Amino acid sequence: MDAIAKVLVSEQEIAQRVRELGQQISRDYEGQDLLLTCILKGGVAFLVDLMREVTIPHEIDFIAISSYGQSTESSGVVRILKDLDRPIEGRHVLIVEDIVDTGRTLSYIISNLRTRNPASVRICTLLSKPARREIDIPVDYIGFEVPNEFVVGYGLDYAERYRNLRFVGVLHESVYKTKRG
Ligand code: IMP
Ligand code: MG
Repeated sequence: MDAIAKVLVSEQEIAQRVRELGQQISRDYEGQDLLLTCILKGGVAFLVDLMREVTIPHEIDFIAISSYGQSTESSGVVRILKDLDRPIEGRHVLIVEDIVDTGRTLSYIISNLRTRNPASVRICTLLSKPARREIDIPVDYIGFEVPNEFVVGYGLDYAERYRNLRFVGVLHESVYKTKRG
């Protein structure tokens, strides 16, 4: 695809890592009431692949929050647009997220979910950008660490586009300058 300057994580690398994470999660949560909690929309591609690599019984749910909007900069404002369908009291919540960047979004979501008395809240993220971290949140499962570049694909968007790419890549700078959502 012309808009992509380079591929950071290939389709094959993602598939392999998602399989490993699914196996690890299946071992760690054996015998527990596991709820995979996907952060919309970015976590969707990761969730649907990950859940099929998790071999223990579990449920899924979705939460949607406002984040970057049309820009590539964090607004710092987090708001719940769609809440979980069901209570999580006493359940083991594993948040499934596309990327931990500053950590602001997940910090907010974790403290919000904790008020509902779940048995545990942990994080599984496809990508982590440690160079950008502002809030030091514990991330239990990480697919890949990526450098400080704006990435798209496999759920991650720029102005709502490119979520469908099978790989994670970096956009050409020209895309930011000329195209708008
Ligand atoms: P944080 O609150 O700064 O950790 O940002 C989290 C959210 O920002 C992620 O869930 C993404 O939706 C978005 N985000 C952060 N970095 C990128 C990126 O490189 N590409 C696309 N979206 C990103
Ligand atoms: Mg996101």
